[in-house]
Amino acid sequence: MVGVTAMNSGWQKNVLRNFEQASKDYNVHAKLQRAVAWRLAKHCSRNHIPLGYWIDLGSGTGLLADALEICTPLQTVLRVDGSRGMLALNRANSQTQQWDLNLGLPACPEPPTLLASSFTLQWLSNPQYRIEEWFKALAPKGWLALALPVDGSFPQWQDASITANVPYTALPLPSKTNLLNGIPKNCIRYQRLHNFTQRTTQLAQILKPIRKAGSQASYKQSLRVGEWRLLNKAWNRSKDNNIELTWRVLFLLLQR
Ligand SMILES: C[S@@+](CC[C@H](N)C(=O)[O-])C[C@H]1O[C@@H](n2cnc3c(N)ncnc32)[C@H](O)[C@@H]1O
Repeated sequence: MVGVTAMNSGWQKNVLRNFEQASKDYNVHAKLQRAVAWRLAKHCSRNHIPLGYWIDLGSGTGLLADALEICTPLQTVLRVDGSRGMLALNRANSQTQQWDLNLGLPACPEPPTLLASSFTLQWLSNPQYRIEEWFKALAPKGWLALALPVDGSFPQWQDASITANVPYTALPLPSKTNLLNGIPKNCIRYQRLHNFTQRTTQLAQILKPIRKAGSQASYKQSLRVGEWRLLNKAWNRSKDNNIELTWRVLFLLLQR
């Protein structure tokens, strides 16, 4: 899991700067994020979450908020994000608020009946602390709906790094066990790990959407050109000569 000590305000600014710079191209490259947002919104709609105050935390351009509003037409969703550029790309007339989630939740006029978040928690300075904070802020019987990549993602990248003897530079991801540590077991309504595997012919092509969607921040120094070559060579190819990258995404629905 990403420890508080490993994070500093410089690193956090870097994360937000990357997303700000990527905002204009985000929707083009965020294919996985779009698919995950829809899947999470459908899980929410199956659970008849009470109407009320709904927030998408780390909404980006609003992929999850849009899906939630389409699945529950009477409900509007406040879109909260640290990046002004991302918020500017939310659909016209949507409610947005620029806010740094590392400072806690923004002030709410009433306790939310839904806090939802997709592909954001892993970027915050202490995901385990944040999940507990969000859970405790819910209205009684309110829901927390989350999707995020967790540890066990990118096995092909890790293997290639070991074989090539180059640093593994992906962001360390939180573990499901740590995330759920402070959550009462009887409040877990749904938990599922889904593997999503992307395939392309070139290493650059598979890693490009990560950078183009603003998700390239790492604690480690970027690899040098020679190291990228070694990594590329060491990456196992499938029978049809494709490079694969598997994301392990945790879907979680909690009810207070
Ligand atoms: C990978 S994007 C996900 C966006 C959206 N939820 C989706 O599924 O497409 C991560 C989002 O988290 C936001 N974010 C990262 N750190 C943040 C912070 N400290 N406070 C608020 N938002 C943050 C970024 O600006 C970005 O929009």
